[in-house]
Amino acid sequence: MIPANRRGIAARYGSINARDDGGANFLFSFVAEALHENVQKPISVRAALASTAPLGSALVQGWVRTRRDAKAFSFLEVNDGSCLRNLQVIAPAALANYAEVQHLITGASVAVRGSLVASQGQGQKWELSAEEVTIVGPSDAAYPLQKKGHTPEFLREIAHLRPRSNLFGAVFRMRSRLAFAVHRFFNEREFVYLHAPIITGSDCEGAGEMFRVTTIDPAAAPKAPDGSVDFSKDFFGRPTYLTVSGQLEAEAFACALSRVYTFGPTFRAENSNTSRHASEFWMIEPEMAFCDLAGDMDLAEDFVKALIREARTGSAEDLELFAKFVDKELIARLDFVLERPFQRVSYAEAVKLLAESGKAFEHPVAYGTNLQSEHERYLTEVVFKCPVTLFNYPKEIKPFYMRLNDDDKTVTAMDVLVPGIGEIVGGSQREERPDFLEASIRRHGLDPADYRWYLDLRRWGTVPHAGFGLGFERVLMFATGVSNIRDVIPFARTPGNAAF
Ligand code: 4AD
Ligand code: MG
Repeated sequence: MIPANRRGIAARYGSINARDDGGANFLFSFVAEALHENVQKPISVRAALASTAPLGSALVQGWVRTRRDAKAFSFLEVNDGSCLRNLQVIAPAALANYAEVQHLITGASVAVRGSLVASQGQGQKWELSAEEVTIVGPSDAAYPLQKKGHTPEFLREIAHLRPRSNLFGAVFRMRSRLAFAVHRFFNEREFVYLHAPIITGSDCEGAGEMFRVTTIDPAAAPKAPDGSVDFSKDFFGRPTYLTVSGQLEAEAFACALSRVYTFGPTFRAENSNTSRHASEFWMIEPEMAFCDLAGDMDLAEDFVKALIREARTGSAEDLELFAKFVDKELIARLDFVLERPFQRVSYAEAVKLLAESGKAFEHPVAYGTNLQSEHERYLTEVVFKCPVTLFNYPKEIKPFYMRLNDDDKTVTAMDVLVPGIGEIVGGSQREERPDFLEASIRRHGLDPADYRWYLDLRRWGTVPHAGFGLGFERVLMFATGVSNIRDVIPFARTPGNAAF
């Protein structure tokens, strides 16, 4: 029997004509071949380029970025997303389907078998000398991604194709890398990974910015006597929403497993069209029992630095791309953050500094109001020129769960602000005293009956505990220099936009 890797690769992908039979042939031959144990395993472009020696036979699969023809050859630049760089393929005129190869166009998918040899040309160590080029899926002149650079705005309109561009390939490799680093960071510190529910009945942040989850038909909604919709007849027998935070659930688990973290999708129906807000984003929320505000600030600083360090030591060529085309200051800024302790300043002090700065802000600064992004950025970029951890905010502007300080005016909140973005982390020590918590719930106009289980955590075995939430996309923006949150999340959901 002829080993499969000598029988040619065309059969695994079906011939190009297989499309004519509606794809049945294609699938059949693909499955039949894949089941064959001797099928040659493809290698990634990244692995091929990193090879330490020539390879007698290598199979590479990917998408054609460009083709140019010489006298006796066609040069294909093939990219498979495993790294920024393309693999140069030399397709000789002797190929049986050379005429078809010469019609290959940007966007087509190919499988190439050949030998990996030292490149004659400039700019790459290895190239693939093709013995067989299978055209898996053709492209045509309407393919929207051409060699010239495209604007992020244009690429957002083709969100399904933009991962095939250099920039988005690099962004999403970084996203994957940092997600992995999140788990490593907490795993090394004995945190337990918790999957908080996505459907919830409670508004953790108390801001009322929740997406309702319902199976009620709006055209035939059950009504209460007062004419309002009767959600007790809804699927869950009560009103439910998409979660704005897994914190309350994380607190329950921290009060048992000591150190936990969540990492999952988070939803906010906040109608703010800014470059830093998404309606669906990913948040990491650690929660620690037997921990106070200082311990919380320490962890947040270590965590942000660990992610920046990961970004800094990641793929050098991806970083170079960001530094060249996205943000010239990127590398310097990452190094700067790694080298310095974050500045810790109380909210009161920060307001004083802003008020005394003489700078004319669009939103005036006053004690007792929320800091706006322009204020946050001024503190990090102008006043301190480094990340800043603000703490002890007025109780009136923070959610019910934060621990009241002895001054009776402020709560143990903390926010980490970074240059270029503003708030990246928000957290606090939690109110662990049952009577104080109940009073705070009432003060916020909430009903303690809705927080029974949460109050129970204080009733039995209460402990000082603290945690924070880090916006994953905001870290990605900081790590890549990409200035719009829509460009660091695969398919952005923002007000008025859930296409794709
Ligand atoms: O400050 P926030 O609202 O805090 C909480 O949700 C707490 N429950 C966290 C905790 O203590 N466990 O949100 C935390 C972070 C923000 O600092 C920001 O980085 C990010 O989540 N974030 C958003 N990111 C993108 N789009 C939005 N609409 C965001 N809202 C918050
Ligand atoms: Mg916040």
